[in-house]
Amino acid sequence: MSGLAGRRAAVTGAGSGIGREIARRPHAAGAAVTLIDIDADAVRTVAAELGVGAEPAVADVTDEAALEAAVRTAAPLHIGVNAAGAGTFGEITELAADEWRRILDLCLTGVFLSVKHQARRMPEGGSIINIASLNARQPAQGLSAYCAAKAGVEMLTKVAAMELGARGIRVNAIAPGLVDTPLTTAFTQSEIKDEFLDNTPLGRIGAPEDIASAALFLAGDDSSWMTGDLMLVDGGGHTMRHPKLLGR
Ligand SMILES: NC(=O)c1ccc[n+]([C@@H]2O[C@H](COP(=O)([O-])OP(=O)(O)OC[C@H]3O[C@@H](n4cnc5c(N)ncnc54)[C@H](O)[C@@H]3O)[C@@H](O)[C@H]2O)c1
Repeated sequence: MSGLAGRRAAVTGAGSGIGREIARRPHAAGAAVTLIDIDADAVRTVAAELGVGAEPAVADVTDEAALEAAVRTAAPLHIGVNAAGAGTFGEITELAADEWRRILDLCLTGVFLSVKHQARRMPEGGSIINIASLNARQPAQGLSAYCAAKAGVEMLTKVAAMELGARGIRVNAIAPGLVDTPLTTAFTQSEIKDEFLDNTPLGRIGAPEDIASAALFLAGDDSSWMTGDLMLVDGGGHTMRHPKLLGR
């Protein structure tokens, strides 16, 4: 497969889970890929697995100077994918403000900084894909900071699409439902998994490949008239309700 030959991609959060799988797909389709992650060992391992055409870049997406330097190594950039993220759990009445800020900084400001520096180095025809979450639209007990940040990613995506459309740059988001990665072991390896399955019409937990397929579609010319969208890739979970994580 060589549908993206000659193009260059940068993927944040490429050291694990969804970002790692997303990085594999444009690389397999012929693109040069810069894998950005705060975890140096992880991102170097993934880049080495991919081989020629894959470069690791160690950066914290909340550190603007470090992120800009990493994105610069990938320029001119045709595809930007923003998957770096993490969650935290706690009721609003117990959640420390610093923990709230940490998640907003990583999951929302990190995406803002990534879009900013990717778009600056992107020619006409470029595509940016932000990994939001079903929690951008579906609230979940105990996940206030994460839900708020992901809802922010949806609106950021729409504003970026408006601002960058005149330059021929598209910006879309993907909203994954529960996907089996190191981030979600508390859900996928506990009794709550059954409640997720009960609230997923397609009856299975997602795999990183499910999200990577959507990202590849949004990266390439088959989606050339799509921008500002939030694509739900969730086994239909948005038609039902989020499991009661507080048990009430
Ligand atoms: N797994 C799911 O069910 C699920 C569902 C919806 C959305 N998402 C979103 O998908 C994205 C990827 O999640 P995942 O499940 O693959 O998680 P993961 O933990 O497997 O991977 C996240 C990666 O982001 C990196 N990272 C964390 N903080 C960083 C920082 N400050 N700078 C740079 N890199 C950083 C980590 O080192 C890790 O490699 C996240 O944005 C997450 O919110 C995941």
